Amino acid sequence: MSTTTANLPPPRSRWLLLGLVMLALAGGTYGWTLWKSEYAWRSGYGDGSLAHIRTANPAVLSGGDMTTFHKGYKPFGQPADNLPWQYAKRFEDGDGLFEQPYRAASGRDPTTVKAGGVATTPEGLGPLYNANACGACHFRDGPVETPYQTGEPMKGIFLRLSVPDGKGGYMAPPGYHAQLRDKSVAGVPPEGMGVITWDEVPGAFPDGESFSLRHPRYRVDNPGYGPLPAGLILEARSAPRLPGMGLLEAIDTATLLGLAKAQELDPDGVSGRPNWVTDPETGARVIGRFSLKANEASLRAQTAGAAFNDMGMTSPIHPRELCLPGQTACTGAPKNGGQGHTDLKEEQLQVLTTYLQLLAVPARRNVDDARVQRGERLFADIRCNACHVDTLKTGGTHPITRLRGQIIHPYSDLLLHDMGPGLAGRPDNDAGPAEWRTPPLWGIGLTQRSNHHSAFLHDQRARNLTEAILWHEGEAAPARARFMGLSRPDRAALITFLESL
Ligand code: HEC
Ligand code: HEC
Repeated sequence: MSTTTANLPPPRSRWLLLGLVMLALAGGTYGWTLWKSEYAWRSGYGDGSLAHIRTANPAVLSGGDMTTFHKGYKPFGQPADNLPWQYAKRFEDGDGLFEQPYRAASGRDPTTVKAGGVATTPEGLGPLYNANACGACHFRDGPVETPYQTGEPMKGIFLRLSVPDGKGGYMAPPGYHAQLRDKSVAGVPPEGMGVITWDEVPGAFPDGESFSLRHPRYRVDNPGYGPLPAGLILEARSAPRLPGMGLLEAIDTATLLGLAKAQELDPDGVSGRPNWVTDPETGARVIGRFSLKANEASLRAQTAGAAFNDMGMTSPIHPRELCLPGQTACTGAPKNGGQGHTDLKEEQLQVLTTYLQLLAVPARRNVDDARVQRGERLFADIRCNACHVDTLKTGGTHPITRLRGQIIHPYSDLLLHDMGPGLAGRPDNDAGPAEWRTPPLWGIGLTQRSNHHSAFLHDQRARNLTEAILWHEGEAAPARARFMGLSRPDRAALITFLESL
């Protein structure tokens, strides 16, 4: 009798053991499937590899794990690498919705929604609007190339209007919205046509090199709802680049307040401050971080606001059409659906928001180039980074886990700065006319590749990066003065550095 046979359990227990093993296997497989389908993907990482990010020179990783090395013509519209398929699908659905051109409501079918949030009947545009798709202004998720010549219709750019309210504040002109909708559905007059004229103002660097800045003058032709009052303040806004939006949302409020606090001691008098805005859903006072005057607090609010203000699309956050009391043709225009119908459904709002949150940040290029490195040192030496803060860490609470705890290089503090009267427009929430949010500079060097132009600042008045810097005044005047005083090769090195972002 061999020892092996001697140690075997009796036949009945053997069946029991087998049963238990099978049960454990089935339980394990079920648990694993449940974990993969319900929980694991929430980390934001798929089954692929991030080795190319883990082994990259940290200097190129502007968006941490949200950096993309995409080399094509759409550098601003890429998803983060190695997303789990659940997020990848939402990104793709959101991308579809972002590019979706909408048409006017037929007044018949309520807009129905396919799985994934894409509209089967893309209706609900207007009655008043500026463009028929998010992607019409944010072309390839960057600023659309606009002809922007006197008399040509504005594209990707719209006018905002204010008049003094007689009580020391400002309001929209009577009969009009604070944003001029230059387009409308059939039978409804548009609010007017924004027209720009340019004045060239020459200047020179101390070393004699000359430049010329084009100063915009705006006016409204063919006002559709009565004469516009005297004292009208006009300002144009251009669609920003959208990479890294989720990371900006994931920065803690405390971090932004810390930046503002630290600037109280700034030797140049840089004194950024947050724009406190009201969350449209909770009513809470929160720090605005999106849009050019940081007037929107979250990507969800920004998305609903953009759909409503720029495209005339209602959503759960803005359920009523935007027609004003005097705009009777607008009020009478066909609407889709009945009680509770909104042009954008909750699901679509969510898919669009996730799309924006997962947009990756382009990796930097040429970081080993000596000129780029010299430019980077100069950027710090002349204190551009007082506002364009190079390094931040995202907080630990964003609902998308992947966005948490990332070391990022946005080159922004998301705070408002007084940029002097030359750039002044109209006020917005807490932001004064001359105050603008420091725009993130990540990806700026790819604007030409993506959008075929190199126009910068809130209304694209600067025709290149040098002009953008020359417009800096107010809190940025000392930095500008130091830039002016650099030698010609040093100025070029600084620009080369910006182009590497
Ligand atoms: C008519 C052109 C236009 C359309 C259409 C448009 N946008 Fe925008 N978008 C802008 C402009 C201009 C701004 C800056 C607005 C401001 O400063 O108030 C902006 C700002 C944004 C921002 C904030 C960017 C930042 O840097 O903080 C996001 C995000 C955004 N839009 C997403 C969308 C989405 C999503 C849609 C579609 C639902 C959309 N936009 C439709 C022109 C447009
Ligand atoms: C006081 C804060 C501050 C300082 C200092 C500062 N900037 Fe800016 N920068 C801003 C703000 C705010 C804007 C947006 C102004 C606007 O759009 O009208 C801006 C815009 C820009 C833009 C255009 C970005 C875009 O997306 O259109 C560039 C480029 C830029 N800054 C580079 C620099 C450089 C280089 C320096 C140093 C010489 C510098 N900035 C110093 C606050 C600052």
